[in-house]
Amino acid sequence: MAGLPRTKPLIILITGANRGIGFCIAQALTQKNAKDTVIVTARVQDSASQAIQKLKEAGAQSHLDSTALDITSDQSIQALVSMIHERYGRLDVLINNAGIAMVPNPDLSDFRQVNNSILDTNITSVGFATTLLLPLLLKSQNPKVINISSGRASITRLTSGDLPATVSVPYSVSKVALNVMTLEMAKAEPKVTFYLANPGHCKTAFNGYKGKKDPLLGAEVAANLVHGDYKSGFWHNDGGEMEMMPCWASTTSDIFLFQLLKPILRATESSDSPSRVVSVSSAGHKAAGIFFDDLDLSKQGYNPMLAYAQSKTAKIYLANPFDRRYGQSGLRAVSVHPGTIFTTQIGRPMSAEELEQLAPMAPFARSAEQGAATTIFAALSSHSVKEGGIYLADAGVSAAAAEDEPFAGPGYAPHAYDEESEEKLWKLSLAAVGLEGNRD
Ligand SMILES: NC(=O)c1ccc[n+]([C@@H]2O[C@H](COP(=O)([O-])OP(=O)(O)OC[C@H]3O[C@@H](n4cnc5c(N)ncnc54)[C@H](OP(=O)(O)O)[C@@H]3O)[C@@H](O)[C@H]2O)c1
Repeated sequence: MAGLPRTKPLIILITGANRGIGFCIAQALTQKNAKDTVIVTARVQDSASQAIQKLKEAGAQSHLDSTALDITSDQSIQALVSMIHERYGRLDVLINNAGIAMVPNPDLSDFRQVNNSILDTNITSVGFATTLLLPLLLKSQNPKVINISSGRASITRLTSGDLPATVSVPYSVSKVALNVMTLEMAKAEPKVTFYLANPGHCKTAFNGYKGKKDPLLGAEVAANLVHGDYKSGFWHNDGGEMEMMPCWASTTSDIFLFQLLKPILRATESSDSPSRVVSVSSAGHKAAGIFFDDLDLSKQGYNPMLAYAQSKTAKIYLANPFDRRYGQSGLRAVSVHPGTIFTTQIGRPMSAEELEQLAPMAPFARSAEQGAATTIFAALSSHSVKEGGIYLADAGVSAAAAEDEPFAGPGYAPHAYDEESEEKLWKLSLAAVGLEGNRD
């Protein structure tokens, strides 16, 4: 992907760049861009200086600078901020790479200390350093923060059975938390583009060199994010192509919420005036069913529109079995297509090209108020008292889509009702949130 037109050479800072993936990111960045400055940091100055020497031997073209940085020391972070302020007056790219993973002793004597150290290094320190560096980042024309995350931060991957059990639970927790922290910081500071980068399982000291991937290849994702024009998000690069990582299936969180609220919903249920669960789906469900052997789309390649379609079929597959279980006793569940609404922020992550593809849906465009009307209708109308598991659109009950009905039309796809798949997803979703023993 082509980079943004560059007006100034970049000032790039990498934490933990004396070895492993951090060093390889420095190597990848310094070999091509002679005008940029790469600031290599390490816990001790000697290690940073040695890394610079190795980068030069490996053919570094860029200007190289170094400083000591222990990310867990406030004093050390303050000193770094002053140094960048004095030498450069701004920071264009911050790569938060430094990280640790440890396993507590079997006798648990250091359990609390190990958990706290991991969270301190991988989360608290990243948040603090980024916050203190923000004023310098905001002086850049195109500031970027790249947080080095992990495949372990993808709850979709964790729950799909793709990943074996981790050797360090607090490490996995820290990387999920890093993702959440990054998303929140991105919302709070929209002038900075925040990224998460998954290097893959790399051969470094971190895992006793048991990883499968050369760390230079693992470094590519971060190096590409520095120079490319990518959307904010969670990226990885397995074999040359930059791809978005799956983060979280919306059904999984819905089923968890349903289970938490179920006692309250059931306490007020009655067959005359049932409690209702309204699952907001979309006509988008028509584009895909559930890929049970590829839930995170990693096999076929991640495609945001297909992922959206799958998640919207999943919304219907949540309402239908829910209604089968509780509908008769007075707790109904229905699905809703609010209409194609162009006036909300749902298209914000989409490129102009992707938005262009939605143009044929314009005749079916609805206002946000019209969209809300269908959800209100689902929550209050007598239809959803008598018939649960129905699919509603345009403030009415929909039928199966006619063969010639346009995609954005109110009808549902044939795969919207498939008891076997619905029950399969129900079980998988319960297992994903640790409620596999819960038959309902
Ligand atoms: N290796 C993998 O398979 C893999 C997979 C996914 C994600 N990651 C992530 O990639 C990043 C780099 O990992 P790696 O595999 O390159 O590990 P590594 O070889 O162990 O390197 C870790 C780096 O972090 C530094 N560091 C640790 N604690 C620090 C602190 N308090 N202050 C400053 N620097 C500190 C280390 O410095 P010292 O030399 O002084 O210890 C070292 O430079 C980590 O965030 C890790 O979670 C790795």
